[in-house]
Amino acid sequence: MDQNVEKDKLDIYFEEHADWQESLKSVQKPRFWGHRGCCMKYPENTIPAFQAAAEIPNLVGIELDVQLTKDGEIVVIHDETLERTTDGHGNVRDYTLAELKTLHITGSRCTEPVEPHLTIPTLREVFESILPALRKGFLINIEMKNSVIRYEGMEEKVMALVKEYDLHDNIINSSFLPESMGYLKKLDPTVQTGILGEEIHWCIARAIEQGADAVHPSVRGLDPNVDALTDLPEGMPVRCWNSEEPFYGDGRVLREFHMEKYALLGATDLIVNDPGMYV
Ligand code: G3P
Ligand code: CA
Repeated sequence: MDQNVEKDKLDIYFEEHADWQESLKSVQKPRFWGHRGCCMKYPENTIPAFQAAAEIPNLVGIELDVQLTKDGEIVVIHDETLERTTDGHGNVRDYTLAELKTLHITGSRCTEPVEPHLTIPTLREVFESILPALRKGFLINIEMKNSVIRYEGMEEKVMALVKEYDLHDNIINSSFLPESMGYLKKLDPTVQTGILGEEIHWCIARAIEQGADAVHPSVRGLDPNVDALTDLPEGMPVRCWNSEEPFYGDGRVLREFHMEKYALLGATDLIVNDPGMYV
């Protein structure tokens, strides 16, 4: 690894388990998801990124991020603000959908060309764009971006749209705001929920408190002391994400390209930026 990057307990674990590839043969193969779509090959959270993911055989599904517009529409964009991925300025919630649709996707600090007519998609447009795959069982992990701005009513709006499209069994909801997942469970105990966070034991404790179905920790928050995972309820999925992967055109180099190794630390699923590399 890069000598300038400080080693943490996970780096040390994998150095001590240099035979991890051999060990992987004895654990369940993790399932893979396309983070913000195929966001290393296409601008994140855009229709092309989602359609590319939906065409990858054996990919479980996609992860995407939702925010609400001024007029209460559900849009798919990671940040609360527009600057990083579009040519707009300010907060998503201060614009109507019609106003947001005049903006162009510019990519994530992108140095690569971006298709000129890409706009921020609505969640409805994403459903429509990959509906054949969804009908065949392709999944969507909808991350409700409501931990910075609470977006009252977001849970109800997402549930209503999912119901309209009859996609109940295709959707896993997640949030960095555990109470939001508890609230969803009160609205409908049959919806699937996951607690997002950094550290796995924190996620497990919140999942138990809120009656959530899964934990979504960072891979860096996994516990190399696998014997300490006794707090994980049996069968609870551990879907991990990695904030170190590059995005389309951002000029960074992929440092970690063996995400499957985290299955040794209990990851059942991995949410990755270039899912085609793994499935
Ligand atoms: O849902 C996993 C992951 O997407 C959470 O982090 O910042 O990429 O939304 P972030
Ligand atoms: Ca996300």
